[in-house]
Amino acid sequence: MSAPITTVGEIAAFEGQTVTLQGWLYNSRGSGKIAFLQLRDGSGIIQCVLKKQAVDEDLFARARKLGQESSLRVTGQVRADTRSKLGFELQVGELEILQDAQGYPITPKEHGPHFLHEHRHLWLRSKRPHAILKIRHICVKAIRDFFDERDFLLLDSPIFTPNPCEGTSTLFATEYFGKQAYLSQSGQLYQEAGATAFGKTYCFGPTFRAEKSATRRHLTEFWMVEPEIAFATLDDIMDLCEDFVCFIAGRVLRDGREHLETLGRDISKLEAIQKPFPRISYDDACAQLAELGVPVDPEDDFGSPHETTLTEQYDRPILCHRYPTAVKAFYMKEDPTNPARALGVDLLAPEGYGEVIGGGEREDDLGVLVRKIDEHGLQQSDFEWFLDLRRYGTVPHGGFGLGLERLVTWMCGIRHIRETVPFPRTIDRLSP
Ligand code: 4AD
Ligand code: MG
Repeated sequence: MSAPITTVGEIAAFEGQTVTLQGWLYNSRGSGKIAFLQLRDGSGIIQCVLKKQAVDEDLFARARKLGQESSLRVTGQVRADTRSKLGFELQVGELEILQDAQGYPITPKEHGPHFLHEHRHLWLRSKRPHAILKIRHICVKAIRDFFDERDFLLLDSPIFTPNPCEGTSTLFATEYFGKQAYLSQSGQLYQEAGATAFGKTYCFGPTFRAEKSATRRHLTEFWMVEPEIAFATLDDIMDLCEDFVCFIAGRVLRDGREHLETLGRDISKLEAIQKPFPRISYDDACAQLAELGVPVDPEDDFGSPHETTLTEQYDRPILCHRYPTAVKAFYMKEDPTNPARALGVDLLAPEGYGEVIGGGEREDDLGVLVRKIDEHGLQQSDFEWFLDLRRYGTVPHGGFGLGLERLVTWMCGIRHIRETVPFPRTIDRLSP
């Protein structure tokens, strides 16, 4: 009878038994009599101990010279081993070499980021990308669970769109059967239709922005989750942001410990993500920044030095609200007590991570919205479908967008956003 095929991740269930593992050679060492093969199968790494007498002489000689990332099938007995992190090793009885791969470009020595990103298709096999992408997975699951458990309907927004949402300077345009289409910058406008149809909806998918500068916070293709709620006020949106981010951080701490350790993440920074988050108006933040010696023009937007200085004053995220109307998107509702300020909110993460969420209350008055579309240099004809939402049963409503990769960068405590995507797209990267 042949041995059961299993994975390194499942190995504990097979102590003392003979199993087959399939994977790739992560590393190896040995002598004339014994070979220690570190087998990686995506679920973990296990040391496979191959004694010379276990297999024929020629196979043992080949095993000793296998290149890194050679593909293998090994059958052997699972033994408890207190010296290894995994707690088990495999005493090999049979070895099948599927391919002896020589010259794998990513060696245990240090490589520069350019080299690693050029080889991203291979680099994904290494420990650091593994840890980061596992945290990404945990975040994605937490995001879905959060909204599903709160009875939001998942309503997918389209990716080809006829109109801009977040200004015209970052649009990717494409020819669409003789017309012009854009890749979606945000699914929000469709969620506004969704909220009037279902009460509360969300979309979660890729969005695109032709960001023309290379920064460590910007991708040209990123994932955004966007809830939208009928009858929600700015305060409701801030409450939701707070609950949402606390929920995700809790999940990352619960399910991602091992990966956070691999990354050397300071866990206490994630434990500090607790309600309530300070809520600061843009004008108060400007006054605070002036005192701290980083003045900002109150009619302008924050730059990243302002966000960094401001957030350094707090150990948890802050909710900064009522930004200047002039710097915000056309759909934001003006504050009835001061139309120069918009009922919008940004969630600014600590440790210099800056804006992770943008959202707020939407303009619900048809006349004001038409005026804003014009003031922003947009074509009303592109937005007729959207204006119907104000013509037929307009109500106060709001929502927000959270950038998945900004969130994951922060959760992982890493420097650059491009490491949070399997295959990042930036101004200077379209491959692999
Ligand atoms: O603040 P933004 O532009 O807001 C919107 O798009 C709204 N329509 C969302 C809504 O209310 N439904 O973008 C939202 C978030 C930012 O806070 C940031 O986390 C992320 O999207 N983001 C980016 N992430 C990576 N690369 C970029 N170029 C990003 N631009 C925005
Ligand atoms: Mg924003």
